[in-house]
Amino acid sequence: EREDLPEIATPEGLLPLLPKRPLTAHKGSVGRVGVLGGYRGEGLRYAGAPVLSALGAYRMGAGLVHLVAPEGSPLEPLEAVFHPVQVPALPSMRVEALAVGMGGGPWGREWALKALEARLPTVLDADALHLEVLEAYRKAGVPTVLTPHAGEAGRLLGMSPEEVAKDPLRAAQTLAERTGLTVVLKGNPTVVAQGSRLSVNPTGNPALATGGTGDVLSGVIAALLAAGLSPFDAARLGVYLHGLAGDLLAQERDVGLLAREVAEALPKARRALS
Ligand code: APR
Ligand code: MG
Repeated sequence: EREDLPEIATPEGLLPLLPKRPLTAHKGSVGRVGVLGGYRGEGLRYAGAPVLSALGAYRMGAGLVHLVAPEGSPLEPLEAVFHPVQVPALPSMRVEALAVGMGGGPWGREWALKALEARLPTVLDADALHLEVLEAYRKAGVPTVLTPHAGEAGRLLGMSPEEVAKDPLRAAQTLAERTGLTVVLKGNPTVVAQGSRLSVNPTGNPALATGGTGDVLSGVIAALLAAGLSPFDAARLGVYLHGLAGDLLAQERDVGLLAREVAEALPKARRALS
């Protein structure tokens, strides 16, 4: 049995981790993110998932976001640089971190393995979460954060979602040990685990239980990786601010939030921390 005590994340502890923005900052110097996701085929479309991740990255302070999505995806003309590709593809782009898998459906596995060629700090979410993928990232020694919910963690651990939710600290730590990567186990509470380190997140509320909020989080953590934070710090700061954004919104409306509104509230959450 482990004897390490989990830390509860605090604003005082996290504040020093916030990336500074010097007067001379430009969009190439504050962190650029590549988002790979979306699935198109057989009448199924998850084009919105990578868009929400891109919004999360921008609202967390990314200077530039490249959005890599399947050809023909019905995407809004976002502020992002759009790369329509035939999956799995990794276009050439100047970025410092990746978020992979959101809405990738059956393409998630292959796409995540392709993305590994970039050897960049990476967030693996949703459809990128396969044991084979995690093993490849560990072997490559690439800084990696995985962001499963209880269902996805359960699939990786061979447990039911209920078993995971019953003891999320233990589940997160087991998954971190088995994969050698940084784990964000999402839920109430969200737990971050890496090696023997364990951080429990105090922010967030059930208003976040709405489609796409997890996609936003993947972009948030990728933006912090791109800004130079370590996987553990990017993960615990990202989940704290994402939860705080949800808490600020819930002061006015405790249900009926949209994931894109959580992204929009991130700058205010950042301000509230500093
Ligand atoms: N309390 C606090 N936070 C919560 C709560 C709660 N009761 N419920 C949800 N959240 C937060 C989680 O901590 C997480 O940050 O909302 C987010 C939900 O993330 P996901 O479960 O990944 O949901 P979503 O973004 O809709 O996923 C989109 O990805 O995981 C796949 O199959 C999934 O198609 C879906 C897609
Ligand atoms: Mg999700």
